[in-house]
Amino acid sequence: MHFRIMPAFTTCGDAQSQRNIRGIFMTQEETTETQLPLNAEHLAAAERAHWRPKSYFERAQMSDIFDRPAPVEADIGCGEGAFIIALAQRHPERNFLGTERLLGRVEKVCRRAAHEHLTNVRVLRLESSWTLQHLLPKECISIAHVGFPDPWPKRHHQRRRMIQDEFMQVVRGALAPGGELRIKTDDLPYFQWIEKVIANATGFERIEWPFDPTYPITNFERRFLERGMPIYSARLRKV
Ligand SMILES: C[S@@+](CC[C@H](N)C(=O)[O-])C[C@H]1O[C@@H](n2cnc3c(N)ncnc32)[C@H](O)[C@@H]1O
Repeated sequence: MHFRIMPAFTTCGDAQSQRNIRGIFMTQEETTETQLPLNAEHLAAAERAHWRPKSYFERAQMSDIFDRPAPVEADIGCGEGAFIIALAQRHPERNFLGTERLLGRVEKVCRRAAHEHLTNVRVLRLESSWTLQHLLPKECISIAHVGFPDPWPKRHHQRRRMIQDEFMQVVRGALAPGGELRIKTDDLPYFQWIEKVIANATGFERIEWPFDPTYPITNFERRFLERGMPIYSARLRKV
């Protein structure tokens, strides 16, 4: 395990932005991931899948991120990427953007995308709220997926939870008209918290999420399902 700070972030932006950005990169990285065998062509494709914005302080265009225009789904905190990879395989006509804080996981997803010859996947190593609020074009996401966000069970850590009142409005600003936010968790106390946040959020309506046995599952979801644990979910539409 080691810590890494991206040097570019320590020299640009105002002081508050620098503090925010520095904070999000001071995270532990995993170094024990499984390596997929890749040839030079795959390595180049993996590199293309890793989206590194020209600026972390200006909005990008979708054409900076993807090769062709298409509806975009975001996997927020995509982890090791089983879900985004499966979705991208299932929907080659759509584009998929994963955001993830840990570099090891970002690289792993990019290698998987390359291995599967997926050209509709990009992964960004950056804090998700910053990405949605400051980096992406407004109203560009058709579906935002949040799979198994860290529950932060200790009371004094709950302010670190991803799903907060402010996050709902940040997501809403990034969603296209009629776009959806889909959240899943195994953690009942966190889900009860999420339900309160949802109830307070303006500009969304809760909609049914019928069970679909063919719907892709995330890495964490697989682990919880294997242990027979219940999964709690919420599906919201921007109104
Ligand atoms: C519990 S894991 C779930 C990963 C994946 N969604 C799944 O279900 O398998 C949460 C992931 O979100 C990432 N993460 C947490 N907070 C984040 C943030 N603010 N921005 C980007 N990634 C974040 C973590 O690094 C971790 O990989």
